[in-house]
Amino acid sequence: MATAVTAAVSLPSSKTSASLSSKTSIISPERINFVKVPLYYRNVSIGRKLVSIRAQVTTEAPAKVQKVSKKQEEGVVTNKYRPKDPYIGRCLLNTKITGDDAPGETWHMVFTTEGELPYREGQSIGVIADGVDKNGKPHKLRLYSIGSSALGDFGDSKTVSLCVKRLVYTNDQGEIVKGVCSNFLCDLKPGAEVKITGPVGKEMLMPKDPNATVVMLATGTGIAPFRGFLWKMFFEKHDDYKFNGLAWLFLGVPTSSSLLYKEEFEKMKEKHPDNFRLDFAVSREQTNERGEKMYIQTRMAQYAEELWELLKKDNTFVYMCGLKGMEKGIDDIMASLAAKDGIDWAEYKKQLKKGEQWNVEVY
Ligand SMILES: Cc1cc2nc3c(=O)[nH]c(=O)nc-3n(C[C@H](O)[C@H](O)[C@H](O)COP(=O)(O)OP(=O)(O)OC[C@H]3O[C@@H](n4cnc5c(N)ncnc54)[C@H](O)[C@@H]3O)c2cc1C
Ligand SMILES: NC(=O)c1ccc[n+]([C@@H]2O[C@H](COP(=O)([O-])OP(=O)(O)OC[C@H]3O[C@@H](n4cnc5c(N)ncnc54)[C@H](OP(=O)(O)O)[C@@H]3O)[C@@H](O)[C@H]2O)c1
Repeated sequence: MATAVTAAVSLPSSKTSASLSSKTSIISPERINFVKVPLYYRNVSIGRKLVSIRAQVTTEAPAKVQKVSKKQEEGVVTNKYRPKDPYIGRCLLNTKITGDDAPGETWHMVFTTEGELPYREGQSIGVIADGVDKNGKPHKLRLYSIGSSALGDFGDSKTVSLCVKRLVYTNDQGEIVKGVCSNFLCDLKPGAEVKITGPVGKEMLMPKDPNATVVMLATGTGIAPFRGFLWKMFFEKHDDYKFNGLAWLFLGVPTSSSLLYKEEFEKMKEKHPDNFRLDFAVSREQTNERGEKMYIQTRMAQYAEELWELLKKDNTFVYMCGLKGMEKGIDDIMASLAAKDGIDWAEYKKQLKKGEQWNVEVY
């Protein structure tokens, strides 16, 4: 089945950055393998205990509503390329997407794959930086979440994009240390070669149900997989996937000049106001009514009841990506909401995880 990309918008919000040209392209059908999904969506009316929620699910006629596991999905490729024999891609573009006054730099980069590195939205790739470590050995690979949809930023399934924060810190001796791979990547010039492994990961694959509610929780570069999701949902046309659910993105960053892909997301919201909600938490500029720092979980707390109601539906899928610290903050909110309904959050989360409704990749 043919797939067309109908919109690609300019990338960065920073003044210094370049932009992708608009492009419409038809993709040859054999390159992409989208699987048609049986629909599985309904509002479950909830009792006051976890048990009653899940019991209600099991009393449904099982033959009719079969949930399709994203992890069992056919055609998801993992580990095609390993460190001993990596894929050699080429940098097509590399552009800073944070403002000059942002704390730290984040870059958006696109590499060629020639269709040889088939990946799905939400997977990661490994990158092996050029050069050797202090023992004279080749550098070890670092993982990066893929920031493009499976079609890639140019809609031809021949590229893969990353969103990389340049790691620079001062060590205990007061010396400035630059992270090996992130600096290698952020310094890449168009035309340069890059050693790529993977793709890897199934945790962050998109739900197959086009009518699902997808809640995306990102801090900083944790936005990468969600950019892929959202391009597929709102910027692309697929014969067998038309998103008609609710996508709700929460993005936490330090300053407004570090809001990643803001213009793209605003464009999506403008085009699909009924299917897309967008909330930013700008930690160093915003506070809540109690004067507390606006972390992603602080912003979520403002919609706590609504989020909790959504979580009670069988077709709500939550994805979390970014800083490790965010997980506890989000758990704390959910625990207090669950407690109001007499539900033990830890237990409830286990059930959600089992149903692939709670997906976490933090680092
Ligand atoms: C699944 C996964 C997906 C990821 N996706 C992304 C992504 O999309 N974008 C992205 O930018 N990153 C991502 N990362 C992180 C990425 O893999 C690298 O860890 C990151 O780029 C740093 O690598 P580096 O080689 O630059 O730093 P390294 O040279 O490996 O240095 C990192 C080390 O420096 C030390 N260090 C770091 N900060 C400090 C500090 N403040 N003080 C003292 N010591 C410090 C720590 O020992 C740390 O292990 C992801 C990680 C995982 C596991
Ligand atoms: N798949 C993955 O596992 C994956 C993918 C991509 C990125 N990552 C990781 O995600 C991290 C993103 O870092 P970044 O440098 O890109 O982000 P960043 O630009 O520094 O933004 C992170 C935001 O989160 C806030 N924050 C800090 N502690 C928090 C906490 N406990 N709870 C909630 N929010 C908190 C920060 O606030 P303040 O700075 O104001 O405190 C800031 O607003 C990196 O560690 C990266 O390696 C992981």
